[in-house]
Amino acid sequence: MEQSLPYDNRIDSESSDQVVNPWEVSAKDGGKIDYDKLIDKFGCKRLDESLIDRVERLTGRQPHKFLRRGVFFAHRDFNEILDAYESGERFYLYTGRGPSSEALHLGHLIPFMFTKYLQEAFKVPLVIQLTDDEKFMWKNLTVEESERLARENARDIIACGFDVTKTFIFSDFDHVGGAFYKNMVKVSKCVTLNKAKGIFGFSGEDHIGKLSFPAVQAAPSFPSSFPHLFPGMDKLRCLIPCAIDQDPYFRMTRDVAPRLGYSKPALIESSFFPALQASGENGKMSASDPNSAIYVTDTAKDIKNKINKAKSGGHQFSVDQHELGADLEKDIPFKYLSVFLEDDSELELIRKQYGEKEGIMQTGHVKKRVTEVLTEIVERHRRARAAVTDEMVEAFMAVRPLPSMFE
Ligand code: TYM
Repeated sequence: MEQSLPYDNRIDSESSDQVVNPWEVSAKDGGKIDYDKLIDKFGCKRLDESLIDRVERLTGRQPHKFLRRGVFFAHRDFNEILDAYESGERFYLYTGRGPSSEALHLGHLIPFMFTKYLQEAFKVPLVIQLTDDEKFMWKNLTVEESERLARENARDIIACGFDVTKTFIFSDFDHVGGAFYKNMVKVSKCVTLNKAKGIFGFSGEDHIGKLSFPAVQAAPSFPSSFPHLFPGMDKLRCLIPCAIDQDPYFRMTRDVAPRLGYSKPALIESSFFPALQASGENGKMSASDPNSAIYVTDTAKDIKNKINKAKSGGHQFSVDQHELGADLEKDIPFKYLSVFLEDDSELELIRKQYGEKEGIMQTGHVKKRVTEVLTEIVERHRRARAAVTDEMVEAFMAVRPLPSMFE
C-alpha cells in the first residue's frame, strides 16, 4: 500500500550538505546550493530549451525573462500541461504566500510576477492561497495578527497586476470548510505519520497542528476544492508556480492524487533569489535580518546603501579588475541584475564588460545600474500597492464564480 517517496528529507539533514525544505534553505558552510543535485534528489526535471521554445510557440509571445534566464529551472509534468493546452484543454494556476511579515522581499515577488505572466500568456484562472493558519502554527503570531498580515500581503499580491476577473485570493482561516475540507481529509487519510516524518522531518516534539497542515496546502491542487469556480470540471489540470522550497508539499500531493482519482498537479519551480551577503546563491533571505534582503517597502536610499554593501565578485584594484574580470558567480549585484534587468542585450554587454578580462566596467558601475533597476521596480510596486483599495481586496477575495476565466 505504502509507496516510498523518491526523496527523504531526513537523509539530507543528517548528511547536512544542503537542506532545502519549506522552513530552511541552506548549503554547507554557507556555500552555493547545487540545483542539479536537488533536481536528482527531488526527482523533478530540468526545464530545457525545447520546453521554453514550446511556450513561445503556444503563447505567441517572447517567454518571460525568468524563463530565458533560468530563474525558473525545474518542473514536474509541465510538458503534459503544454500537451493538454495544445490540444485545446485548459488548466488553472495555483500559488500562495505564507503571511509571516508585513513586507515582502524581492524574492517573494518572483513567483507572483511569473504567475501574472502565465495568467496573461495562457489566459487561465488562478487561485492564491494565503496560509495564515500555517504562519500561526509555525511563528510566534496570534490568529488575529496572521489574519491581518494575510490581508496586507494580499495588497502586495494584487499590486503585481493580477486580473480580478480570473483570480481568486483566499485565506485559509476564511475558506477551509465544505468541499475544500473534504479534500483535506481525503489527503490526510492517505498519508501516514511515518511518511509525513520522512517528507517534512517532523518529530515527536512537534505539535499536531504542524502534522495537519500539509493537507491544507495540498487541497487547492484539486479543482473540486473550489465548487464556486470549477463546478463539473473535476478533470481540470493544475499548474503550480513556486520556488523549489515548496516542493515537499507537492511531492506529497502528487503521491496521493492517483489514489483519490485526481490528476497530479504539475509544477514549475524557481531557484532562490540570493541574500545580499550570500557568496553564491545560497540562503533564503531572512525576514528577521533587514539587511539580508531588499523589501518592497525600502526607500531609494535604503536600496542604494544595501546594494553598496552587497557581496561583490569584482576586484578592489582596477588593474586586477582589468586583468581578471569579476567572478560573476560570487557577485550579488550582477546576479540581481541578471534576474531583474529587462534588456537581454544590455545584460550581455555588462556580462562581457564586467565579467571578462579587459572589460571597462567596475563593481561601482554594476552597483549603480542594479540600484536604478531595483529602485524603479520597488517604486512602481509601491505606487501600485497604494492604489489597491479595501474594495479591491474584497473583490479578489469574494467567493464568486469567474465567468470569463478562460477568455
Ligand atoms: P512563502 O510565503 O514562504 O513564499 C511565497 C513564495 O515565494 C517563494 N520564495 C522565493 N522565491 C525566490 N527566491 C526567494 N528567495 C524566495 N523566498 C520565497 C516561495 O517558494 C513561494 O512560492 N507555504 C507557502 C505558501 C503557499 C504556497 C502554496 C506557495 C501555500 N500554497 C502554493 C507556493 C505554491 C509559504 O509559506 O510561502
